[in-house]
Amino acid sequence: MAFPPQFLDELRARLPVSEVVGRKVRLVRKGREHSGLCPFHNEKTPSFTVNDEKAFYHCFGCGQHGDVITFAMETEGLSFPEAVERLASQAGLQVPQSSPEERERAKVRNTLYDVVEAVCAWYQENLHQSGGREALDYLRGRGFTDETIGSFRLGYAPDGRGKLLQAMETRGIRRDQLIEAGLIKQPEGGGDPRDYFFNRVMFPISDARGRVIAFGGRILGEGQPKYLNSPETPLFHKGRNLYNYAMAREAARELGTVIVAEGYTDVIALAQAGLPNAVAPLGTAVTEEQISLLWRLTDEPVLCFDGDTAGERAALRAAERAMPLLKPGKTLRFMGLPSGEDPDSLVQSRGADGFRHLLDNARQLADVVWQTEIAAARHDTPERRADLERGVNQRISGIADDGVKYHYQQSFRQRLRDLFFQPRGGAGFKGAKGGNWGKKKPELAPGLGARGDIGAMKAMQERALIATLINHPDLIHDSIEALNEISLQSRELDTLLQVILNLAFTAPVLDTRDLQRHLNDDVYERLLGDVLHAQVYRKASFAGPEATVTEARAALDEMLQRYGRGRMVADRAEAKKELADDMSEPNSNKLLNLVREESGAGSL
Ligand code: UTP
Ligand code: MN
Repeated sequence: MAFPPQFLDELRARLPVSEVVGRKVRLVRKGREHSGLCPFHNEKTPSFTVNDEKAFYHCFGCGQHGDVITFAMETEGLSFPEAVERLASQAGLQVPQSSPEERERAKVRNTLYDVVEAVCAWYQENLHQSGGREALDYLRGRGFTDETIGSFRLGYAPDGRGKLLQAMETRGIRRDQLIEAGLIKQPEGGGDPRDYFFNRVMFPISDARGRVIAFGGRILGEGQPKYLNSPETPLFHKGRNLYNYAMAREAARELGTVIVAEGYTDVIALAQAGLPNAVAPLGTAVTEEQISLLWRLTDEPVLCFDGDTAGERAALRAAERAMPLLKPGKTLRFMGLPSGEDPDSLVQSRGADGFRHLLDNARQLADVVWQTEIAAARHDTPERRADLERGVNQRISGIADDGVKYHYQQSFRQRLRDLFFQPRGGAGFKGAKGGNWGKKKPELAPGLGARGDIGAMKAMQERALIATLINHPDLIHDSIEALNEISLQSRELDTLLQVILNLAFTAPVLDTRDLQRHLNDDVYERLLGDVLHAQVYRKASFAGPEATVTEARAALDEMLQRYGRGRMVADRAEAKKELADDMSEPNSNKLLNLVREESGAGSL
């Protein structure tokens, strides 16, 4: 709907920006302007200003800028016409309808909302009557509380012909209205209209303002189709709506993120577990419009699709769809689920914290794209490399935003370089088979992993680790946290490691010679001699000065991972002992958590 410009001007003139903004942000008057903490980014000192005369707001911190209408759109996730309508009613202005047809359409739409609302209430009633017993038991059996059932307005469409029409006629609702709302359908060959939904558990679908516009109906027990969704109607376009959008909007703003699950029940289970910021597409692949809707809520929505191949495929399709739309700051992230799980089952077995843990580890779109691109490709000949590069470039060329495209190019060029110029083979270095995130997992040198007594082996590994750090000090900064966490068995080497880390901490740029000189000054000369020893390099070529950074990096990562695993095993043994001593719930949970952590998660 196009609004006449005079009307929009009048709207802006009637509603001071400070009034509209002031409902969400505490503003302090400063001369002609107001200032406050910016609602669009996190800050501790105000850089957000509002100027009523010029009728705009501006943030010097994050650059957000706009008027009352954009403010309502941004902070409430409304579309332009929705924001205008909302503000107009606040300002006491009548929204002009530009043509009689449009006015007629708007009127029909309005009454259709009432129709769907009445039907929703009726489905709700039915759930709590004797006919709805099985449906109610089913929902309770899935673990939904009565409060949840109420807040999501779940209902039941009863069996039997013509019940809906009968019930609605007593409320003054006509047959043609129910047909238009997609709730009954006229059989092709004539005859009495049929209920679109019968004997199904009903999930009402709302628009961005929380008005019910359609339904998803789940069959009781097994059968096809499992879910039936309302057809497209004047109110409902499934590609343009998301389940639970209105409710998730506020929560998403507060929590800074939004979760996109696949199913209605996932969204509901998440909300009940304390994650109210979840939405779901409506029985189709995620559309461009839905991605735009998500970006109104947050910069990096997290897709959390079922841990099966269908879920994975759906996530990849969403990734593809998002590529052309990317904008600076706006992207998607992907959360991996253990295979066979969906968000509903996961949050039931692991709780909200278990879910959040996986959520925090969601992967970036760029990583997912990279992985899919290289997973299938081989890159052991010039032709194959060229082919891979072409594929990567083609994918990037789909990005419309020049800035984002440029940075994708840079990042992927670097990744290709790392991938192609990784040395293959070499002593103590066995390349992993294709794909694998482009990172080869090196084996430790044979002598380090295979035979010999454990103590000597450990000592050799620890020497190799230190030698790697000294010969490749560039690597220290990236891994400093992990390095700080490990402790070496050899006391001397452990102290040496601490000294090296301290040095790295105080000197932003380290080179091998500085490091050696520094250590030689100290009392580590002899120890250093043992570490930077030809014998060590023979067993672990990656630790030597000749090894490439890539080799050393990969080996270091692998070593750190092993230490991490070793620590987990030790933690678990400890937790088992504690539980044996004291069979308390906290002790039992601790052990359970460790076991879960170790079994890991993630198909994506
Ligand atoms: P799922 O089959 O994963 O749904 O489909 P779910 O929510 O996990 O189902 P149950 O109740 O726990 O068994 C995910 C979504 O795909 C759409 C629905 O929107 C559903 O929520 N869908 C699924 C359909 O539209 N039609 C179908 O037949 C099946
Ligand atoms: Mn499910």
